[in-house]
Amino acid sequence: MKLWGGVFTQNIDKIADEFNSSLSFDKRLYKHDILGSIAHAKMLGKQNIISIDESQKIVDGLNSILKDIEDLKLEIKDAEDIHSFVEQELTKRIGEAGKKLHTARSRNDQVALDIRMYLKDSIDNTAAKLKSLCNTMLDLAVKYNDTIMAGFTHMQKAQPITLGHYFNAYVSMFLRDIERLLDAKKRIDVMPLGSGALAGTTYPIDREYVAKLLGFSQTSVNSLDSVSDRDFLVEYVSCISLIAIHMSKIAEEWIYWACDEFGYITLDDKYSTGSSIMPQKKNPDMLELIRGKTAKVTGNLSSAVSLLKALPLSYNKDMQEDKPILFDTENTINACLDVLEGVVKTAKFNTDKMYKSATGGYSAATDIADYLAKKGVPFRDAHKLTGEIVLYCIQNKIGLEELKLSQFQQFSDIFQNDILDAVKLENVVKNRKSLGGTSPESVLNSIEILKEKLSKL
Ligand code: ARG
Repeated sequence: MKLWGGVFTQNIDKIADEFNSSLSFDKRLYKHDILGSIAHAKMLGKQNIISIDESQKIVDGLNSILKDIEDLKLEIKDAEDIHSFVEQELTKRIGEAGKKLHTARSRNDQVALDIRMYLKDSIDNTAAKLKSLCNTMLDLAVKYNDTIMAGFTHMQKAQPITLGHYFNAYVSMFLRDIERLLDAKKRIDVMPLGSGALAGTTYPIDREYVAKLLGFSQTSVNSLDSVSDRDFLVEYVSCISLIAIHMSKIAEEWIYWACDEFGYITLDDKYSTGSSIMPQKKNPDMLELIRGKTAKVTGNLSSAVSLLKALPLSYNKDMQEDKPILFDTENTINACLDVLEGVVKTAKFNTDKMYKSATGGYSAATDIADYLAKKGVPFRDAHKLTGEIVLYCIQNKIGLEELKLSQFQQFSDIFQNDILDAVKLENVVKNRKSLGGTSPESVLNSIEILKEKLSKL
């Protein structure tokens, strides 16, 4: 049964009917559609637009449909979309009163309501996953606050850092991601029902009441915009794209951390896969998939903006295509977050290899330049002089930390015994005590700040 047809003299073509249908994907909105309809029916009753008895019958009928769907007793099928399905089923169950549910609303404002309700819950769910990942990483940051490893710029060994510092970097990113999602949620938290098809309604509806029943903090104020607005979809997919991008970075890093040449980590068997031909292989497929699925999410962002570009006000059927974008984005990010947390929780950190790779790469060079600069040598000159010391080490195949005081003094008599301490890896790290720096002390301090921020979200 269709929700329309009075004016038609022929049935829709079978192929067109299938093409038009969104039920295969929008059935996912069933709960929010039913809850939205319950609030609408209560409002219609309260406003005497339908009788209290009719309103109650509708509410009971809708609750029974919801229960049967959740108990898997009712299959969602044979309708154009989820809105048609629910109304059809309601009328089947309660008769004439069911036909009154759609009074003073259109599917245009109904679908806008459903997506907003759905996304509010979805954001909370994804934010909770992000928080859990942050907590896992913060635990690791505490555990490895003084574990030294090589730090890179341009993928070249730069300065040693601590593993705890590394984890705090990702927690900082994911914290921003949570904040961004919750900020986007503010603009989603606007109740559009009552906008009708595009121009509002002639019935004495109470929109604020519906907003209150459904837990919205605002009610929209322009019916044309309310049924057209999918800005929040772009915002949502954009927020999710950044999360995916952040995850793709750690995925990329850990893929090479897991290879023999790096050996920083060993991935757990539970999160690795094998090769069908090479018996010795253990592959980081989970991480590669996280990296790969990021392309899907950023592709969805491109689809979302393209979908909306130049769409005239108000509702256009193009907008039905918003849902596959939304659901795929949601599925992908949630799966990636679950998998990444598993990978992170079970990975083994080979701290000896990390330490070893931080040595011998002249990563204490900045500290030598800083040593000279602190004793009055202009930093640019100190930089040049240190470069010459590094060249000497390269030519003589020794590390900076192996240089004797006499060798340092060949370059400048400013060097005193304390230079030997300054180039020790532990001190190179320990001395970076600035706020947000890599020293164990700073890392522990940052962990407290990050925990505090996280607890407020
Ligand atoms: N299935 C439609 C969608 O998802 C519902 C709105 C239909 N509105 C209409 N005017 N045909 O967008």
